[in-house]
Amino acid sequence: MTPFTGKNEALENKMIGDDIVFKIDGVDVRGRIGQTIMEAADDAGIHIPRLCDVEGLDPQGSCRVCTVKINGRTAASCTQPVADGINVENRTPEIQEYRRDLVRMLFHEGNHLCPACEASGRCELQALGTDFGILQPDKYPYLQPSRPVDASHHDVMLDTNRCIRCGRCIRASAHVDHKNVFGYVGRGINKQVGVNGTDLAHTNAAVTDKAMEIGICPVGCIIQKRVGFFAPIGARRFDKEPITGKK
Ligand code: FES
Repeated sequence: MTPFTGKNEALENKMIGDDIVFKIDGVDVRGRIGQTIMEAADDAGIHIPRLCDVEGLDPQGSCRVCTVKINGRTAASCTQPVADGINVENRTPEIQEYRRDLVRMLFHEGNHLCPACEASGRCELQALGTDFGILQPDKYPYLQPSRPVDASHHDVMLDTNRCIRCGRCIRASAHVDHKNVFGYVGRGINKQVGVNGTDLAHTNAAVTDKAMEIGICPVGCIIQKRVGFFAPIGARRFDKEPITGKK
């Protein structure tokens, strides 16, 4: 099989929006030049797991949960453009095990005490863990971070012990709210989301910001106050259907 190099001579004669055909797990999928593999898969009803990507924000390509193999070479499907005739491996045992390990490491890195978390039932990390059969992560040591919880803001609370550094809040605040309330601080294993002020109360954050919208933070890091456990057990997002099949 020819290694995927990112160049495709067939593309040189194609324009943005032109139809192309490629394969995902051996099935023909129609896409359009200018789409990512994930977008084309979504349109075709084929689910690719994801964490840092969410509809309405530019892709960041950082969590790698959406990794696929393209002509034998791994790439993040949320940022990789479609190309005519490529072969994409999505749900092979090898790729699924790779994704499972990434999700497992996130559970080990943060404090994800699901039964006590307000986001339980609508948490994408929890839902992916369930999907991958990660009932009790035991492969790596727990890092058990002890970061201060920022409850200074009148309407919003920030618990970065649950943060998975997907950057959705950062992109939403910067590109939609045009505020830059959030940003990364620290390096390496100490990298985490911080706020552009001494604490959240000393920023221009508002509960109406896109960054604070339920569903932007995929876990329970950003929590709106006074709406805790707003949906009863059984009526939460992933109580009704698994994350597989969701965008
Ligand atoms: Fe593609 Fe996170 S969803 S890298």
